[in-house]
Amino acid sequence: MCFDDRAATWDDPDKVARSAEVADAIRRRLDLTARPRTLEIGAGTGLLSRALRADLGPTTLADSSPGMLAVAAQVIAEEHLDGWTTALADADDASLPGGPYELVLSQLALHHMEHPRAVIGRIHAVLAPGGHLAVADLDHDPEGAFHRAHGDFHGHHGFDRDHLARWLAEAGFTDVFVETVTMLTKEVEGEARAFPLFLATARRPA
Ligand SMILES: C[S@@+](CC[C@H](N)C(=O)[O-])C[C@H]1O[C@@H](n2cnc3c(N)ncnc32)[C@H](O)[C@@H]1O
Repeated sequence: MCFDDRAATWDDPDKVARSAEVADAIRRRLDLTARPRTLEIGAGTGLLSRALRADLGPTTLADSSPGMLAVAAQVIAEEHLDGWTTALADADDASLPGGPYELVLSQLALHHMEHPRAVIGRIHAVLAPGGHLAVADLDHDPEGAFHRAHGDFHGHHGFDRDHLARWLAEAGFTDVFVETVTMLTKEVEGEARAFPLFLATARRPA
């Protein structure tokens, strides 16, 4: 999947509305009153962080797609998001940029990463003690229906919530909580199908 080619038209009303729903769920689960220093991985154009902009401190939008980050940088400049920056980083390759952070976000990105379990370990490493993770992603889709139209998809067909919760606990996270946030509707072979989107939150112990 080449995200560079999709960057210019990535933001659309459906994605903006979905990001607002995920942002609301994060606000319900986590206390953001101290405006956490934040990293979003696989941020794309930064839709989730932007939906939380009033709640976040200095924010880094990290992604492996230069095209997505170019759009993100343009929005940061146009909307005067002071203290926000972009970072070109492949979460599978290396340690995550900067830190420590009080909050690490991810929306519909972990399933694109080759080694999600290792990425969870890197998130733990870059969080300050007491910091939180909030990951929104697809439930396990055993038929691979969500990505069927994307012939070049090489990621994971969503996640089993129990597996994800176990990976989080094994990485050292506590207070693991997973809930359904919304449904994504997508046409699959001429039929509208609904795919649940979950939010997993967890805390690095102080
Ligand atoms: C489906 S898009 C989601 C973008 C954004 N989070 C959103 O919700 O609009 C997945 C994003 O993950 C990024 N990505 C995929 N694999 C990655 C990796 N290994 N490291 C960092 N970013 C990655 C892609 O470039 C893309 O921007």
